[in-house]
Amino acid sequence: MNALMQALTKISPDITELTNIPVPQYGLREVLVRVRSAALCGTDLHILNWNQWAQGAGIKLPVIMGHECCGDVVAVGSEVKNIEVGDKVVAETHIPCGACYQCQNGEQHICNNLKMFSIHMDGCFAEYTVIPAACIRKIPREISYDVGAVMEPLGTALRGVNATQVGGSRVVIIGCGPIGLFAVAAAAALGAAQIVALDISDLRLAAAIKMGADITLNAVDKNTDQIVLKATGGYGADVIIEASGSPEGLKQSFRLLRKGGRVALIGLPDKPVELDLVKDVVFKEAKIIGIHGREMFKTWTQMESLLVSGKLVVDPVITHILPLTQWREGIELAKSGQACKVIYHP
Ligand SMILES: NC(=O)c1ccc[n+]([C@@H]2O[C@H](COP(=O)([O-])OP(=O)(O)OC[C@H]3O[C@@H](n4cnc5c(N)ncnc54)[C@H](O)[C@@H]3O)[C@@H](O)[C@H]2O)c1
Ligand SMILES: [Zn+2]
Ligand SMILES: [Zn+2]
Repeated sequence: MNALMQALTKISPDITELTNIPVPQYGLREVLVRVRSAALCGTDLHILNWNQWAQGAGIKLPVIMGHECCGDVVAVGSEVKNIEVGDKVVAETHIPCGACYQCQNGEQHICNNLKMFSIHMDGCFAEYTVIPAACIRKIPREISYDVGAVMEPLGTALRGVNATQVGGSRVVIIGCGPIGLFAVAAAAALGAAQIVALDISDLRLAAAIKMGADITLNAVDKNTDQIVLKATGGYGADVIIEASGSPEGLKQSFRLLRKGGRVALIGLPDKPVELDLVKDVVFKEAKIIGIHGREMFKTWTQMESLLVSGKLVVDPVITHILPLTQWREGIELAKSGQACKVIYHP
């Protein structure tokens, strides 16, 4: 195919532009996808701003930005099995090598040679994208393109909630960005007895109520710890989901956890954080679970079942849908804190 397509390209550290470039070639083990919906993520802002993390992430410029997407398969490499033209698909983002210890032992999502879609190869803020067969997922037709586009961050949240066994438990979710809000919805879907959501933005807390939180608290309020303790019978929460990535949120996670409770750590603080391990972990017998993305593809199977059944509802997190030509407006909305998930239709 020699036709041209629009693509949002990070050309150099200072230049990001909507470019007209040829529709990409696909390899034997790759799939060409017409992108219908693509979601903006915090990582895209880091790459756009070319911050310290982006500079060290192994990105070779120019690169087409964006990794959260859903679309239709238009062509399939000759060695690709189980994916056909016309399938509705999403990109997993984590690209495993298939050969290392992790890959051979059911942990491909934390492969030792892990490559990332839109970091180590072009991404999906474009009319067409190439997705490696190793990280493509065919999804049920009932799931809309826009919900399909947010399944990658949704899966991260769902996995944290699932791993901490929230059924019948009192759950505290710290940070109500997209991941925290998805965690609220997932905790409700998996039968949490009580969901307390914390953020420092009242706008985000209002969204948490829509997603199914029973109590929302502004973490800036000095009484937050006491209120949570009171709401959990004086013992603390059975489960904490840390999705703020802030040092304060991380420290508060362990303060609010009951003895013997379970914590899923999802947020990524940008510096090492000091914790009182004796008090908050050892004597408390805290069960800590680090979450890096989704299990491949166990989390996807569970997520698809919950979405199709209507038990997991995430639409309120999608606050803005724009054509890709309005990409700058989407970035400004995301930066302003007024938007939650911004979606582009290329
Ligand atoms: N582990 C993974 O696989 C994975 C994947 C994607 C994102 N992440 C990380 O997860 C975190 C959440 O992602 P997101 O896209 O929702 O980010 P986000 O920045 O949109 O959300 C973070 C939220 O935390 C709130 N917050 C900040 N300080 C707080 C505090 N002290 N107490 C309570 N809330 C506070 C912010 O107001 C914001 O609403 C980020 O750190 C991100 O880097 C991890
Ligand atoms: Zn993302
Ligand atoms: Zn591997």
